[in-house]
Amino acid sequence: MALGGMFRNAAAIYLHLVGPFRGKKSGASLARCLHQTLAMTKRLQARRLDGIDHNPWVEFVKLASEADVVNLGQGFPDFPPPDFAVEAFQHAVSGDFMLNQYTKAFGYPPLTKILASFFGKLLGQDIDPLKNVLVTVGAYGALFTAFQALVDEGDEVIIIEPFFDCYEPMTLMAGGRPVFVSLKPSPNQDGELDSSSSWQLDPTELASKFTSRTKALILNTPNNPLGKVFSRAELELVASLCQQHDVVCITDEVYQWLVYDGCQHVSIATLPGMWERTLTIGSAGKTFSATGWKVGWVLGPDSLLKHLRTMHQNSIFHCPTQAQAAVAQSFEREQLHFGQPSSYFVQLPQAIQRCRDHMIQSLKSVGLRPVIPQGSYFLITDISEFKSKMPNLPGAADEPYDRRFVKWMIKNKGLMAIPVSIFCSVPHQELFDHYIRFCFMKDESTLRAMDKKLQKWKDELRP
Ligand SMILES: Cc1ncc(COP(=O)(O)O)c(C=O)c1O
Repeated sequence: MALGGMFRNAAAIYLHLVGPFRGKKSGASLARCLHQTLAMTKRLQARRLDGIDHNPWVEFVKLASEADVVNLGQGFPDFPPPDFAVEAFQHAVSGDFMLNQYTKAFGYPPLTKILASFFGKLLGQDIDPLKNVLVTVGAYGALFTAFQALVDEGDEVIIIEPFFDCYEPMTLMAGGRPVFVSLKPSPNQDGELDSSSSWQLDPTELASKFTSRTKALILNTPNNPLGKVFSRAELELVASLCQQHDVVCITDEVYQWLVYDGCQHVSIATLPGMWERTLTIGSAGKTFSATGWKVGWVLGPDSLLKHLRTMHQNSIFHCPTQAQAAVAQSFEREQLHFGQPSSYFVQLPQAIQRCRDHMIQSLKSVGLRPVIPQGSYFLITDISEFKSKMPNLPGAADEPYDRRFVKWMIKNKGLMAIPVSIFCSVPHQELFDHYIRFCFMKDESTLRAMDKKLQKWKDELRP
């Protein structure tokens, strides 16, 4: 009763203030006049946003929505999450009404508890749910919290490229200086298709990037956009450099369950001496094919996590309780089925490997040369042949070729991918501007729609 009265009063006040102006010319000109008087002349954009306000994703996503396009660009599944996860969410929404309210700021206790026990076994650590786990708004939130909590003005952050594109602006927003080191493909044998495993870091070049200002290195395995799964030997190299130079390792492992051809995902935090200096980031969105849930987490030693908690409690403070409850219940289910054929973490990569292979065969039929990914949702494909056959695609003179190619492909072939130069630093874009990224985490029907477009393309190619 009292609440109803309050809303009625608010509506009455609104009508009293705004009513006289509605639909009247004098009202419109008064509003314009007020607007002119109040327009601000101060610099509005905070300096930390300088240079990062242009986001190429906006342009490409818009292009894809304009025509009859099969969207193989953005990284999300277009099929439902597993039934047990959907039911867990339904239960969270319709069950205990207290799940509509705030919970503990650093994570809903059943979720921090199951994350601690589940990942404690995987990482070989005794994980304390209160000290070593922080629940965040997606892995994005975990990354942002980590950068803001640890990176200071002038600190250097080593970023391995091609990289998930937010690492660079997140470093810059924290006042840090990104230092890039590229994965490079080793020459492949005649006629053989590349694998993401042949993309490697040059150990000497990597070592040369570490200085006394290096604060952190960001690792992403399985990698987006390349699908590379770092081998134990590669991780040992990174680990030894981090230890030698006293550097924090932020490891983004959101695709850890999506590895193919029997490839093993290794968490760098399991290597000797690394737990103490590593933040391991995960995503329920990627884990349970529910990217809209936006639940993520960071695991690590209390000495690092206590700073992330300070950042979290002064920014986000809290993540949606019901989504956290659904993730907790889904992990509890997975823990019971761990390693068995009934486990989603076993079934998902098997199903997605079939999607990957389907896409590889289809892309090859029009002369695209996919790099076979060992993991993740993505593959990149080489468009060098097109670059030499049609070098003058429309676009600005300084626009990297892959961006012009994707626009051409959207318009002329009805297929959407993402140019790989988006995932690189500006000085290195030339190294990567003959690759585009496709997402194969898609339903059969989407892959069939892709086949149709590619078949048409193939017919056009016939002499
Ligand atoms: C490598 C990587 N890290 C983090 C994220 C963000 O994950 P979330 O949706 O949980 O914020 C993505 C999403 O595409 C990603 O590809």
